[in-house]
Amino acid sequence: MDERCASWAERHTDPMRLLVSGSPAVTAPADLDALGDTALYAAYAPPREPWLRANMVTTLDGSATGADGRSGGINTEADHIVFELLRAQSHAVVVGAGTLRDEGYSSLSIDERWRGLRQGDGLPATLPLVAVSNRGHVPPQLAGIDDGTVLLATTASAPGLDDARSSLGEQHVIVCGDERVDPAQLVAALGRRGWTRLLTEGGPSWLGTLVAHGLLDELCLTVAPTLVGGDHPRTLAGPDVVVDLDLHALLEQDGTLLGRWLTRR
Ligand SMILES: NC(=O)c1ccc[n+]([C@@H]2O[C@H](COP(=O)([O-])OP(=O)(O)OC[C@H]3O[C@@H](n4cnc5c(N)ncnc54)[C@H](OP(=O)(O)O)[C@@H]3O)[C@@H](O)[C@H]2O)c1
Repeated sequence: MDERCASWAERHTDPMRLLVSGSPAVTAPADLDALGDTALYAAYAPPREPWLRANMVTTLDGSATGADGRSGGINTEADHIVFELLRAQSHAVVVGAGTLRDEGYSSLSIDERWRGLRQGDGLPATLPLVAVSNRGHVPPQLAGIDDGTVLLATTASAPGLDDARSSLGEQHVIVCGDERVDPAQLVAALGRRGWTRLLTEGGPSWLGTLVAHGLLDELCLTVAPTLVGGDHPRTLAGPDVVVDLDLHALLEQDGTLLGRWLTRR
């Protein structure tokens, strides 16, 4: 736990509250700490499959990063809990290369807290990370992991294609697009592997592409009770889009608001 999270944990006094519920399994308002992990897990259940959701965090002034240029600088204890829960409910996590580089991702594991509920959900013990890079660049910390826990989605013209195949194994490199990764092709390719509960953790450029292609079903957005000022990215980048979403669920703990927003179809 970094210093920022530690200070949040020390200040944590309130139970996690469910203010709005979109799940028939849990009615709002509810004290989720009293109801236990099963209720929190149920509050985030995807309504159907295939399902693609994003998990992002923002400050009150709309920044996707802290002054250090990383989202870890703005998250809170409540955000951390839901971050791990969302991973536990997914078949695979798809992340843009910019975020992998900036945040220093390594291969993923399931938080012990959620392992039993994940197993009960019929999901496998492992959680593959799918890196998305037009250039076919495998971040150094992921290079050489060829056991299938790290995959790369890239393009037919990617300069790094051959290196990526030898680094991660040919079957773990998904070519979907000529010059830019086509997100619809990628979602279809992951579906053919049986991965129909997909989570993306951004970043803003990759999320903007998913939204622009009409592929995002749900945005899980944490609003941290923090102001950072400065000049930082927002949670969405890329082309102009206007997409309406409906509030499905809202949770609160220590001033952190955690929303589930479903794309209006
Ligand atoms: N607040 C949050 O919740 C949150 C979450 C994640 C990240 N972040 C922050 O966001 C920043 C990074 O964001 P970012 O927008 O630069 O990176 P990003 O969206 O994670 O990655 C962009 C990269 O993805 C690859 N890509 C492949 N196909 C693409 C496509 N069709 N559309 C868009 N990208 C495609 C490209 O990689 P190649 O260049 O290798 O070809 C591109 O440069 C960091 O500061 C990070 O801390 C914040």
